[in-house]
Amino acid sequence: MKRSFAPIGVFDSGVGGLTVLKALRERLPTEDFVYLGDTARFPYGRKPKDMIAGFSRQNARFLESQGVKAVVIACNTASSCALPEIDVPVFEVIEPGVAAAKAAFKGGVIGVVATKGTIHNAVYQKRLEALGLSVWARACPMLAPLVEEGLAAEDEAILLIEHYLKDRPVNLDALVLGCTHYPVLKAAFQAHLGGSVEVVDSASTTAERVAAQLEARGFLSTTGRGEVTHFVTGDPQSYQHTASVIGGVDGEIHHLEIEELLSAGSQRAERRGQSALKVVA
Ligand code: DGL
Repeated sequence: MKRSFAPIGVFDSGVGGLTVLKALRERLPTEDFVYLGDTARFPYGRKPKDMIAGFSRQNARFLESQGVKAVVIACNTASSCALPEIDVPVFEVIEPGVAAAKAAFKGGVIGVVATKGTIHNAVYQKRLEALGLSVWARACPMLAPLVEEGLAAEDEAILLIEHYLKDRPVNLDALVLGCTHYPVLKAAFQAHLGGSVEVVDSASTTAERVAAQLEARGFLSTTGRGEVTHFVTGDPQSYQHTASVIGGVDGEIHHLEIEELLSAGSQRAERRGQSALKVVA
């Protein structure tokens, strides 16, 4: 199959990556997508860095086995760990988040909220500070599980946001939602912060980058119909329920056992090894 006709692969630990998928579908309406929600291994935000880098590699290889032409890591926690090395381009979401924050900077402080893992790995902090910006960072470990449980519209969300933001600096210019689950709570963040603080996320900036890079490589499709095939490693019904609470999903949802994910990915890696040997011979 000609590469441009292939779908784009997107993965996250759960439904959070659907916020990035939405931006991708809006920016690239003639592409098709394969979305992997690794809900059986959710949350990524509290797990060790090496473990997440391993999950990320396995997920990317699985998506490659589905014939994708690029992989978008729609998860900040996975983006803050070592990125998978595969045969197709890999996009992460932190650099686009940094770009969005830089655009919102007015001389005050940039706030970053994210999972424990992302804050601990300090990629946002280092990249923003390298641009000369002052940063305030806060881990919000309860927020992604709350969204994943379909509770984003409940009062508990507001209480948690108040709790996590209570010691924020007064001169905050912008707050970066450094977890792809958090844009679902954007209105609640904005209501708490008031109109003077810009609340930014990486979804649309990521979609712009993916579009530009694929275009530069001649990989863009003109024939796709915005279709999405979903794979979930956990319960497909709760995935569908949560997704419907946050705006809905269309397309088929397939359950994927972790064993299947691993074996499809390793067969794909083996085939790559064999063809590499052929090239050398
Ligand atoms: N959506 C993921 C992120 O952007 C994290 C949620 C989790 O903890 O698995 O970091």
